[in-house]
Amino acid sequence: MSTQAGLTTTQAPFIEEAQSKGELYIRQPYELYSEANQDTWRRLYDRILPRWEKYANPKFLEGVQKLALPADHIPRLEDINEFLRPLSGFSAKAVSGYVPAFTFFDCLRLRAFPTTITIRDGATLDYLPEPDIFHDVAGHVPMHTDRVFADVLVRFGEVAYTAAHLAAEISNVEEREQKLESVIKAMARFFWFTIEFGLMRRPGGGPDDLCVYGSGLLSSHGELANCIENPRVQRFGFQLEWVINQYFEIHHYQPLLFVVDSFEHLFEQVDLLEDWMRRGKLGNVSPGEPAVSEADVRSFIDAVLHDSAPT
Ligand SMILES: [Fe+2]
Repeated sequence: MSTQAGLTTTQAPFIEEAQSKGELYIRQPYELYSEANQDTWRRLYDRILPRWEKYANPKFLEGVQKLALPADHIPRLEDINEFLRPLSGFSAKAVSGYVPAFTFFDCLRLRAFPTTITIRDGATLDYLPEPDIFHDVAGHVPMHTDRVFADVLVRFGEVAYTAAHLAAEISNVEEREQKLESVIKAMARFFWFTIEFGLMRRPGGGPDDLCVYGSGLLSSHGELANCIENPRVQRFGFQLEWVINQYFEIHHYQPLLFVVDSFEHLFEQVDLLEDWMRRGKLGNVSPGEPAVSEADVRSFIDAVLHDSAPT
């Protein structure tokens, strides 16, 4: 097979073929990365490293070291996983694209992280139409080396499992779908304002001393500085009732961010999210982004039809 097209986000015949066959979990065909793809990784890494050192939370920087995340070539997932598994039980699992919401959260519960293997077009380093391997592996995976953070993700997967079972108890189909849509929206907003775009107080620092743990920020050279330095960005202490009702837009820098005290604090908030869900407090969150697709709702309903006990 020609390596000319490589594994570029906007053009990857290997991915198109997997998608056309309905294959979600795939291998990482490392031999298909083009020299241009490798060069894109090197440039992204070189450019962001000084900003990681300045703005990232210490656990992320430790994670980069512990994974031996390569600066000079795209990582092989099998190499990353060899370092990662003993630390938190997590592994990165290659996927061909969109993962239905329940499937995504359920992977987290089982300590697998669905991971994109394509890389953005080198001509537009800052424009990211969808996640790529730099976002997933350089932005997310170093955080998974930390046990408390990893447990937050697992807990999140358990909350999805609870959501599916609570929905199954609603016999009226219309009501079940309406409630599920609201609960999935609440979960997606929580995930967005924490795992993707979360800030935290710098350990041992003053009240205004912030650092970054959200992967959307950690994989964006421009936004990583902007989220801390720009006085127009609004930063508030994490408030669950606000977060689950706050819409967001994905195509520009985030104007509003939430700050947690620690990963233990974040874990407690996921517990609270589940508690609120059980008490019916997520059933009517405010409308607006993100849109919840029919496939996402269906994935939660199907989960209970094909149920297996949590392992
Ligand atoms: Fe992400």
